[in-house]
Amino acid sequence: ARAQIGVTGLAVMGRNLARNFARHGYTVAVHNRSYGKTQSLIAENGDDGDFVPSESMEDFVASLERPRKVVVMVKAGAATDAVIDELVPLLEEGDIVVDAGNAHFPDTIRRENALREKGLHFVGTGVSGGEEGALNGPSIMPGGTAESYESLGPILEDISAKVDGVPCCTYVGPDGAGHFVKMVHNGIEYADMQLIAEAYDLLKQGLGASAAEIGQIFAEWNTGDLESFLIEITADVLQHVDAETGSAFVDVVLDQAEQKGTGRWTVQNGLDLGVPITGIAEATFARALSGSVPQREAGRAALPADAGTWAVEDRDAFVEDVRLALFASKVVAYSQGFDQIAAASAENGWDIDRGAMARIWRGGCIIRARFLNRITEAYERDAELPLLLADEYFTGAVGNGLAAWRRIVSQAALNGVPVPAFASSLSYYDGVRAERLPAALIQAQRDFFGAHTYKRVDREGTFHTEWSLDRSESQA
Ligand code: 6PG
Repeated sequence: ARAQIGVTGLAVMGRNLARNFARHGYTVAVHNRSYGKTQSLIAENGDDGDFVPSESMEDFVASLERPRKVVVMVKAGAATDAVIDELVPLLEEGDIVVDAGNAHFPDTIRRENALREKGLHFVGTGVSGGEEGALNGPSIMPGGTAESYESLGPILEDISAKVDGVPCCTYVGPDGAGHFVKMVHNGIEYADMQLIAEAYDLLKQGLGASAAEIGQIFAEWNTGDLESFLIEITADVLQHVDAETGSAFVDVVLDQAEQKGTGRWTVQNGLDLGVPITGIAEATFARALSGSVPQREAGRAALPADAGTWAVEDRDAFVEDVRLALFASKVVAYSQGFDQIAAASAENGWDIDRGAMARIWRGGCIIRARFLNRITEAYERDAELPLLLADEYFTGAVGNGLAAWRRIVSQAALNGVPVPAFASSLSYYDGVRAERLPAALIQAQRDFFGAHTYKRVDREGTFHTEWSLDRSESQA
């Protein structure tokens, strides 16, 4: 037994993680259900470092130093359970099983419980950054026991992305916390992508600009506050030309966005926790709308726009307005996502440090961005910050673009351009800052038809009005 870490599941993510470990000087045990993939890893990438290939799970486990650290990198769901079931009887007390796939966090909680009963550590960890990240440094979000992190953490930190020399990996919290945070990361990724897509559409509709021209605008934006991986690849994608037709690539792609489900999980959990993650929800529903083919056909055929043709007069001013509205909407989406993390952390006793989450998202992952530093700073100023939007930096940065944000959302409405994430983010902003909300009327209606009671602004207690009798008020 000489391998310090093992990887089972050598599809591209597992293979790249194994190579990353090897390149950092670790002896890596490698295994795959079919041996061919293991052999091709050794044949093609054996030079990366010291690999110990095994054909059987038994040999793989036997090749690992104790406490064994086994990274499972297979499809979320049944495939993960099958590998765990095969692995567990071969392990001994104190060994660590790491699930690095995109598992749903309740599954992680279940698996952690089951393995703990057997004296094993189960670490559900988020890994973001796609194939590139897995090979060259991902953002890593491990859950599980703090004890397991003592031996596993340094290895994961070693292979993670670094920003200013700081690893994009830290202990997130017990049981499902790591996969939970990865799920919210993906939800924010959906919101970010939708906001970027809406900004692109606004520039297209408002300016009649070509994809390549819009790509240049994004490239310029990437030099300022919006600097991020997603803005960078957007600039690249928009300037890409389809080889076959000579058209802009984006114009030949079918406009129906798919998803594997992490965004949907985030929204479902937001509903369970009662946290208004409207940006993520709108983004997820926008993908659903894009794929609603019969509805879109019927809508296209029957629904008039009753809107004028959009002709923006001052091009530069409009581009700047879109940029400011995008930044503000993006802050809302992140603020909501961090609220969701806080709520789940409180509910599950995870004690997640939100500033640290922003710190490990600065590099390696899909939502890596310059402004995540600002989020970390905000939580350093106040670890219990109830609303990220209300941090002094963000009130300034968003306030600065407020008039632009309102102009953009209203112009989009007047001109019949759908901007669900921009518009709902602005509504959230106005809702969360409102002195008084019409929720009072909802409470009154609920009491009227269902005797659901209400509270008063001027007295303690719970009240009911006899709506169908004499309208007298009684205290419940
Ligand atoms: C990452 C990505 C990764 C991913 C999602 C995309 O952090 O590396 O989020 O997890 O590409 O699988 O999800 P959808 O297919 O749902 O868009």
